[in-house]
Amino acid sequence: MKKLVIFAIGSYTLLMLASLVYAQASAAKLAAKACSACHSTERICEKLGKRTPEVWLQTVQRMQGNGAQMTDAEVTTIAEYLATAKPGAKPLCQ
Ligand code: HEC
Repeated sequence: MKKLVIFAIGSYTLLMLASLVYAQASAAKLAAKACSACHSTERICEKLGKRTPEVWLQTVQRMQGNGAQMTDAEVTTIAEYLATAKPGAKPLCQ
């Protein structure tokens, strides 16, 4: 019984970790695609790690106003990703 509980908790934890990694990777791809249409992503990369989540959200919303093609849900996903992305994060940064 105890082993079964440990196995269940272990599998659940692994599944959660895997989905987190997957979500992070697809947000990274989404950002690289949506944010490279008008200007170099260098503009973005030089700011990674230097902005609060609120400022990233404002930035991404402003880009939507500039004409960037993103749904409102993608704006949130991309802003959250940029707020946690490390400087030099791939595939956004070269
Ligand atoms: C439709 C064209 C377009 C797309 C797509 C676009 N941008 Fe921009 N971006 C601009 C323009 C125009 C400026 C300069 C004016 C301004 O800052 O609003 C700019 C400037 C910037 C700046 C420099 C100003 C600042 O706030 O430091 C950053 C950072 C930035 N964009 C990030 C992004 C991100 C992140 C994405 C993807 C969500 C993105 N851009 C997609 C048009 C675009």
